[in-house]
Amino acid sequence: MSTLNTIAPLLNRLFEESDAMSVADIPAVATLSGEERERLMRSKTDYIHMYSQLKDAALPVSRETGALLYMLARSSRARVIVEFGTSFAISTLHLAAALRDNGGGYILTTEFEPSKVARARENLKAGGMLDLVEIREGDALQTLRGDLPNHIDLLLLDGAKALYPEILSLVESRLRPGALIVADNADYSPEYLARVRAAGSGYLSIPFADDVELSLKLA
Ligand SMILES: C[S@@+](CC[C@H](N)C(=O)[O-])C[C@H]1O[C@@H](n2cnc3c(N)ncnc32)[C@H](O)[C@@H]1O
Repeated sequence: MSTLNTIAPLLNRLFEESDAMSVADIPAVATLSGEERERLMRSKTDYIHMYSQLKDAALPVSRETGALLYMLARSSRARVIVEFGTSFAISTLHLAAALRDNGGGYILTTEFEPSKVARARENLKAGGMLDLVEIREGDALQTLRGDLPNHIDLLLLDGAKALYPEILSLVESRLRPGALIVADNADYSPEYLARVRAAGSGYLSIPFADDVELSLKLA
């Protein structure tokens, strides 16, 4: 029995609660035009305001991406994981389940919405995973600026999309050769995609399913 099976009822409940809430119905979002939404998703400056309007929404990775995260972390025997964008910790729970089945480890995750940090702690506690996770509250541009683990096995990028290049730059020197990077909805950051896909970038990178860019640090 894997830990992912053990926490499946909790994950199902969290995904169902998320499915029941339509982001498009949140008043601050409903009034935005399609173009304005696109612009906000790609903005390097307006993300704090946008995500504060979405503070009650889990915005989780898909169920498939959640399973993929467990599989990648489990099969690579990951022990050290960094996550950008905790929200309610649905992705964190998948990653933590893999660490538990790998024999233990450490996840550093970061979120700037205080109410989301509280929800994440509650969910991690309910899943019995709090001992594996450090949540740094604040903007990842600051919280990931220092005091990082030395050998990171897996990086999940799932916060403000436009910041993916900056966040990669903050943690890049700590990614071990062979480390995996999962970037959710990276299409919103052409700059990030160009960087990891460039010849000689030091990464092998492919789009995976519809919404994930999967990259491997070569050396
Ligand atoms: C798509 S959600 C993350 C979902 C989560 N990974 C999951 O699957 O359960 C993105 C989260 O990142 C947070 N966020 C966005 N930009 C951030 C930043 N610069 N620093 C910290 N948190 C950020 C948002 O508040 C939001 O909760």
